[in-house]
Order: sequence, then C-alpha cells, then structure tokens
Amino acid sequence: MEVLIQSSTAAAVELVAEIIAREVQANPRPVLGLATGRTMESVYARLVEMHRAERLDFSGCRTFNLDEYAGLPGADQHSYRHYMNRLFFHQVNIELRNTHLPHGDAPDLAAECERYERLIQEAGGIDLQLLGIGQSGHIGFNEPPSEANSRTRLVTLAPETIRQNAPLFGADKMPSQAITLGVGTILASQKCLLLATGESKAGIVSRAIEGPVTTAVPASALQLHPHCTVVLDEAAAGALTGAPRKRFD
Ligand code: GLP
Repeated sequence: MEVLIQSSTAAAVELVAEIIAREVQANPRPVLGLATGRTMESVYARLVEMHRAERLDFSGCRTFNLDEYAGLPGADQHSYRHYMNRLFFHQVNIELRNTHLPHGDAPDLAAECERYERLIQEAGGIDLQLLGIGQSGHIGFNEPPSEANSRTRLVTLAPETIRQNAPLFGADKMPSQAITLGVGTILASQKCLLLATGESKAGIVSRAIEGPVTTAVPASALQLHPHCTVVLDEAAAGALTGAPRKRFD
C-alpha cells in the first residue's frame, strides 16, 4: 500500500484526478470503478475541468459505481445515479449506456446483485477502483463486519452511516439498505485508489491502514491489495502513528 500525504485538500484532490486522468489516457477502453460521497464531489469537478480545458476524453470509458441505495429509482434526486449524472456523466463525453450503477429499485434485489457482479466480469473486471471511506470503516457500503471475500450484495447500513448521510436527504427518509460491491469484488480490481480528507476521517484512516486487517474495519482489507494507493490530506493523516509516509508536494 502506497500512502501519499498532501499538504492541502485541494492538492489531494488534484493528485487523485491526475491518477484517474492518466488511466483514462493510457488505456483506450478503461473500466473505472467510481465512488460517491462528499469527498468525491471535487474530484469529479476537477475531471470535468480537465475535460473542458484539456480535452480529457472519456468516450472510451466504461464505469461501474460501488453502490446504490435500495428502493431508490435512478431518477430520485437522492440516488447515486442522480449524483453521478449531475456531477460527472452529464458534464463529460462519456456514453451514458457505458455507465453502470446497481438498480436500487429492481424488483428482485438478490438477482440484481448477481447481474451487476456478472456485468463487471463481462467487462473484464475493473482497471482502477476509486474509493472513499465512511466513518464506520466502510468502503462502498461494506459495513462491519464484511468479509474480505464478500461479493455484490444487499446490506443494512450501520447507524453511523445513517448519521453521516441522513443530512443529505433533508426532510426525506434515508433508506436503511443498499446494494454494494463486495470487498472481494473491490479487491479483484487491478488498482485501488482511496481518497480521504479532513480531520473527521483521521481515526478511521489510521485503523484502516495501520491497524490489523479485520472484518471490523472493512477498509483494512485494502492492505491485502497489491496495487493500492491511499491519498490523504494532512488532516486525514493526522492520527497515523507510523514513520512519516511519502509526501508528494
Ligand atoms: C458513502 C459511500 C461511500 C463513501 C462514503 C464517504 O457512504 N457509499 O462509498 O466512501 O460515502 O462519504 P463522504 O465522502 O461524504 O465522507
């Protein structure tokens, strides 16, 4: 695991956007694994800027998002499909039919999980998986305890996650379940790229990257991945106790 600490949030976001841009430029048909959450909003904003100013070309990309809330149709303003369309897909030259998220409103959610897992395999697997981290230690919506070999499935959200994300739903009720790629599905990606920023993530970041690999902190499974890069700002790196990690700016 490579840990890159940047002196500001903007520099951390810039580095993550550059790593994604490099993948998109190097590979004519990249398969990107994408993430949502507040942290990622500025990553997508930067990629949109790169598309507009530097003609970064997304036309060959296929994308698979990590997760979607159970029960929400893509048209719902709180769905992750809506988030992705608004912040990224509608702003760049990606073909919408090549963008995938689990269907949260599928009539049979177990069958939907199997379909989504199969679709990723048919695309040849994920080349670069972008990840955030939740306060509960989740990646995607893999709440503790999540096994390192878990696959795409329906999960019940941790109370901490509901506390963290409920404000985004305003007066509407946040779903208590979601479909998520499994930890094993994430670990099967060629490369993983985790971004965490801000003091509120410092404790969980230190448990995930310096603590033992445990189902109690699903993100700790990333220590098992052969090509995982973690990008942090100073604040998110604040609780690391080990020797100073690589610093890039
Ligand atoms: C949601 C997503 C996760 C993401 C997390 C972090 O829960 N399902 O994939 O990592 O949010 O959220 P934020 O960036 O808002 O802290």
